[in-house]
Amino acid sequence: MLDDVRFSAGEFSTSIRFLSDPTQALEGVQLALFDTNTRPLLGSWSGPEVVWPAGESSKSWAQIDSALSKALELELGRDGVLAGVGGGVVTDMAAFAASLYMRGCKLVLVPTTLLAMVDAALGGKTGIDYNGYKNLVGSFYPAAELRIWPGFLQNLPERDFRSGLAEVIKHALLGESDLHSLLVNQRQAILAREPDVLEELIYKAIMVKVGFVERDFREKGERAFLNLGHTFGHALEAVAGFDGSWTHGEAVCWGIGRALDLGVRLGLTPRGYQREVESLLLSYGFVLRAPHKDAGALLSALKHDKKKYNGHVRFVLQTGFGQCLQTTADDAQVLATLAGGI
Ligand SMILES: NC(=O)c1ccc[n+]([C@@H]2O[C@H](COP(=O)([O-])OP(=O)(O)OC[C@H]3O[C@@H](n4cnc5c(N)ncnc54)[C@H](O)[C@@H]3O)[C@@H](O)[C@H]2O)c1
Repeated sequence: MLDDVRFSAGEFSTSIRFLSDPTQALEGVQLALFDTNTRPLLGSWSGPEVVWPAGESSKSWAQIDSALSKALELELGRDGVLAGVGGGVVTDMAAFAASLYMRGCKLVLVPTTLLAMVDAALGGKTGIDYNGYKNLVGSFYPAAELRIWPGFLQNLPERDFRSGLAEVIKHALLGESDLHSLLVNQRQAILAREPDVLEELIYKAIMVKVGFVERDFREKGERAFLNLGHTFGHALEAVAGFDGSWTHGEAVCWGIGRALDLGVRLGLTPRGYQREVESLLLSYGFVLRAPHKDAGALLSALKHDKKKYNGHVRFVLQTGFGQCLQTTADDAQVLATLAGGI
């Protein structure tokens, strides 16, 4: 079993425990928050709970309200321990509810998707979708404890597993050469979810995110590099209408492809690096073309990106492995980049 990790995020501190047994996941917890798919993963739990409907459409005020009213009904104090057990939807919402209850109660997160283990549950960004905008309302509130049981991933549907792999690949491109080698050399074992390899993959990917969060908790600088592929990817998700035709991870990989293309157009990304990353993404079955999409519609979705700077969309681009920068680009170049990806 892997050693525990402890790290700070601004004024907060998080410890990550790798469990040897999933029944340890809710030790000391007073209120557990699940979704309908994650509740059965901890069938032995018999304490107080709220079970949200599974899926992104649950990320709403109504579901936050259900958690807060349950906490009040149980008369939890500030020292009450609230836990979220699930993918990024549950961990984002549980963390948001915990940040609000009594201005912040103790939060334990038990991520059950690969994406939540290596990304969503780590680093304190919480939130819900609001008036059609993803993650528009939220707070920064890192968990006091993350409890990780890689065995949960054996139940995960294939597309959700691959969606998490997209974030792992992105973490590797940000400069973790051991993680990159693992992805290249152990592809079959990773896709077959062999436990030892999966554990190593999760650990290395977590450590990449921990580094960014420790150095730049409030995303004033380099934490934004974690958004590689996301500006383009969010535009694709918005145009596809969050209808399940593109998972978040699939859209991010398409977005990484577009970011590389824009980088090449701007003379920033070497073609050899572009080809190398594209072939890694393709080897994991990700697609770099979104046929039947309209470049104009993608451009207008992109301009609604909430991470604008002085009214301009800023793109995270790469000049090579582990080397990122943020830049703006004119509409003609962005439109040509989008047209090249449909
Ligand atoms: N806070 C952050 O920094 C951050 C970062 C990335 C993504 N996110 C958020 O994460 C969300 C996406 O997370 P996700 O991809 O984990 O989606 P998700 O939470 O919807 O989980 C995907 C599906 O898998 C099911 N599931 C979860 N664990 C399972 C398991 N072990 N076995 C079987 N089924 C299981 C869920 O019920 C759901 O149907 C988005 O809302 C996104 O905004 C947040």
